[in-house]
Amino acid sequence: MAGSLIPYDDRDGQIWMNGKLVPWRDAKVHFLTHALHYGSGVFEGMRAYNGNIFKLTEHSQRLIDGCKTMDMKIELSLDEINHACLETLKASGLKDAYLRPLAWRGPEQMGVAAQGTKIHFAVAAWEWPSYFSPEMREKGISVVTSRWRRPAPDMAPVSAKACGLYMICTLSKHEAERAGHNDAMMHDYRGQVAELTGANLFFVFNGELHTPTPDCFLNGITRLTVMDIARSKGIKVVERAIMPEELKKADECFATGTAAEVTPIGNIDGQVYKVGPVTRLLREEYEKLVRAPAEAQQKKAG
Ligand SMILES: Cc1ncc(COP(=O)(O)O)c(C=O)c1O
Repeated sequence: MAGSLIPYDDRDGQIWMNGKLVPWRDAKVHFLTHALHYGSGVFEGMRAYNGNIFKLTEHSQRLIDGCKTMDMKIELSLDEINHACLETLKASGLKDAYLRPLAWRGPEQMGVAAQGTKIHFAVAAWEWPSYFSPEMREKGISVVTSRWRRPAPDMAPVSAKACGLYMICTLSKHEAERAGHNDAMMHDYRGQVAELTGANLFFVFNGELHTPTPDCFLNGITRLTVMDIARSKGIKVVERAIMPEELKKADECFATGTAAEVTPIGNIDGQVYKVGPVTRLLREEYEKLVRAPAEAQQKKAG
């Protein structure tokens, strides 16, 4: 991962924090911050291409919706969140960047009950070229099934991009990396195929695009974009429950996410997949769309 050797708290630049840009190294929180102890935060991951944040409003709206799900009263409007992200990007001087907005419960109250805490908000932008290395993205990443499962909707706030939900993702990904793989595939509480630790999953069966129904994990913005692209290219898209034993019959498979973009998967638990024509087409079209002028993106979205 490019740049990962420079600690994230020791970089030049500015971070948007609670209403203004502050020097990067001063963007700190107190030890008794509620989110640090109880995972009470909601975040976003966005990418800017050619100075334009792709699907900015969709990401900002998901942050607001996630805060609502987490009983966090964020006092910022959609426009104010959009503005903070755009200002942060501008201050970074970057045209292509990854942006990380986060809303979290502060240190105003400690304990499980935290109704007296304020909801803080910050955004950072940095250069994060590709989640997986270019070689991996070309030949396909190696994936192994995790022993952790996505919880049911009545076990966790599954639709929010909530910090606490990533605890099992980090554990899964560490185990996968230690075993020599790039990522872990998570099943859900029913044993159905769900997603990777930070990206959604697609499979090609006889030229059709199949993807798990997102009823207990994030319905990714990239996922929705890729489904739209596929339909516009005449590819049939099927959302359904997918069982692990079906995967050996898939012809291609790939992952989607803001950080991962469209990343081919080369094998899952030793089952090998080629990087086939559907994956290549959708990856190319996605790359074209994110760099298209904003009006062209709106038209496609409509
Ligand atoms: C767990 C998880 N699933 C799916 C996704 C893909 O979501 P999106 O395409 O909106 O980035 C992400 C990335 O944000 C994620 O963290």
